[in-house]
Parts: sequence; structure tokens; C-alpha cells
Amino acid sequence: MSELPLGALPATVPEPGLPARVTIYEVGPRDGLQNEKGVVDTAVKAEFVTRLLAAGLPIVEATSFVHPRWVPQLADAADLMTLLGEAGKGLPVLVPNERGLDRALELGMRHVAIFGSATETFASKNLNRTLDEQFAMFEPVVQRARDAGLDVRAYVSMCFGDPWEGQVPIEQVVGVGRRLLDLGASQLSLGDTIGVGTAGHVTALVDAFVAAGVGTDRLALHFHDTYGQALANTYAGLRAGVTTYDASAGGLGGCPYAKSATGNLATEDLLWFLTGLGIEHGVDLGQVVDASVWMAGQLGRPSPSAVVRALAGA
Ligand code: HMG
Ligand code: MG
Repeated sequence: MSELPLGALPATVPEPGLPARVTIYEVGPRDGLQNEKGVVDTAVKAEFVTRLLAAGLPIVEATSFVHPRWVPQLADAADLMTLLGEAGKGLPVLVPNERGLDRALELGMRHVAIFGSATETFASKNLNRTLDEQFAMFEPVVQRARDAGLDVRAYVSMCFGDPWEGQVPIEQVVGVGRRLLDLGASQLSLGDTIGVGTAGHVTALVDAFVAAGVGTDRLALHFHDTYGQALANTYAGLRAGVTTYDASAGGLGGCPYAKSATGNLATEDLLWFLTGLGIEHGVDLGQVVDASVWMAGQLGRPSPSAVVRALAGA
């Protein structure tokens, strides 16, 4: 338990009708760091992951087995997972294709995540595939991963808007999401890659998935905070019954292949919000703040998280 200053937790005032408990899916070491220009030392990444796990975060996405030329920052994925040892094998890692899966299997990973696009342009820019071709790439990945007993998460990017195509129809997102689940993914994380979504849009999208037969227990929400909407969107998600939220310690983040993608919803901002609502999360806010302040020191710039700045003056 880290020492927080007096008044460093909000009053807890529950609101009826919201979930009693949520799962925070921490993406700082992967989504947070993938966009960093200066290469971060593998040992620093390992310590970041370890600190986040020690803070009680139940899931910490560690890295990506993507092409090292596409994301040079994560070229050390195998070294990182080797350094993390047994503890690392239970952490999810991104794999876009069979080559990525092979690399993850060689290291004994038990959870992988594929990442699809709701739009044609982003499929091409992020995966070098058309919208349809992405499913052909993912199909054997999911099949082989499941045959090997792995759990598979699927992301859908550009669910609320695309910097090249503009608005993205809800039916298009639901169509892509359903196809990814039909391949055999256990959970679908709906990404607001460029942070343009607003609360009513979140409600409408979640409701559309439910109407298409996808329960909220299979959905997660992944907000980037580019336009400052991430917490309002989380509130809409809670009201719609979603109980898994992706967040990034300190608000690090961005996608190198999506112009205008900035940091993810900061884990600390989410923790403050959930604590105020009396929603259980099992995470020690002070320890996450400490990890983010330490990471900000490594990166040489302050955290963009309002809660980190308020609590740590960082
Ligand atoms: P490609 O160039 O089409 O690959 O890239 P390819 O299949 O034609 O293969 C070309 C060469 O790359 C081959 O080598 C492969 O072996 C090698 P060669 O035979 O020529 O020597 N190769 C690999 N090497 C290592 N690891 C691999 C791998 N795959 C192929 N996995 C590819 C296609 C998918 C690989 C590429 O486009 C890629 O790596 N993209 C990743 C982009 C990325 O990581 N983006 C960020 C993550 S997504 C995100 O942040 C959004 C999210 O947060 C949600 C949200 O916010 O919306 C999840
Ligand atoms: Mg993201």
C-alpha cells in the first residue's frame, strides 16, 4: 500500500443500477509504450509490468509479437517475456498473424489478442490487409491458439470514427465484431482508437451488439482520451452494463498507424472514478500512481493523467 496524501481518495457515493465490480485490463506496457519514439530498455518495461501487477491490476497486456519493423519499440517482445519468466506467461500479448502466434507459443504464452479494424483504410494501414483479408489472416491464428488451449481476445479499432474515412456506421462495427467472435475469440474490445466517441454513441454501439446477440459479458471498452471523452464514455458503458475497461497507467498511449491517436484513458483516472462510485476494482491507486511517476521519470516527461498530476504533482 503506498502512502497517498490526505484527501487522496474520493468520497464513495454509489449510484444504483451500475455494476458492482469491474475488471481493469491494463494496456500501458503495450498500447502505452508502442508509440514511444525513444527505445525503452527491456528491463524498464519488465519493471513497469511488475509494478502494475503488484498494484493489483488483474490483467496487464505486456507487448506485441508484431513485425519489428512495424513497431520497433516492441521488437524486444521475446526478451521481455523471457525476463518476466513464469509470471509473464499468464499475460496477454498481441499477435496479428501465424508468425506472431508461433513466437508467442514458443515462449509458452497462454493469452493472445488479435486486432482487427472496422474500416478498410485502417486495415490497410495497420495490417497491410483489406478488411476481408484481415479475417483470413486471423482465422488460423484463433483456430490454432484455441487448439493449443490459449484464450483469445479480439480488438476492433476505429469503432467510433476513422481519421481517413470519417464516421463509421454502427452496423459496420457490429458486423466486424461478430465475425471476430465467430472465429472463436472469447472477448471483444471495442476501440475508440482516435478518441472521438461520445457517450450516446457508446450506448448505441453497446446496445447494437446486445441486439445482435453479443452479451455485455463478452464486451470490453477501449477508450483513447484524445478529446477528453474517455471517462464520460466509461460512464455510458457502465450504464449499458459493460464490466471490462481497458486503461493505460499514467495515460500513456497511441497507435503509430493512426494519426491523432493519443493516450489511452489513464488507469488512475478510471480508478478515481470507480472508487467514487463504490465500484469494486481491487487495485491500489497509490501503487499505480507510483508506477506511473516512475515511468514518467524514465520517459523524461510528466504523465498526462489528471489524477497522477493531482496526487503526485508529477
Ligand atoms: P506484412 O508486411 O504484410 O507481412 O505485415 P507479411 O505477412 O507479408 O510478411 C512479411 C515478412 O514479415 C515475412 O518475413 C514474415 O516472416 C515477417 P520474410 O519471409 O519476408 O523474411 N513477419 C513477421 N515477423 C515477426 N513477427 C510477425 C511477423 N509477421 C510477418 N508477427 C503485419 C503484416 C500484420 C505483420 C504488419 O502489418 C504488422 O506487424 N502490423 C502491426 C501494426 C501494429 O502493431 N499496430 C499497433 C497495434 S493495434 C492498436 O494499437 C489498436 C488497439 O490498441 C485498439 C485501438 O486502440 O483501437 C489494439
Ligand atoms: Mg489502443
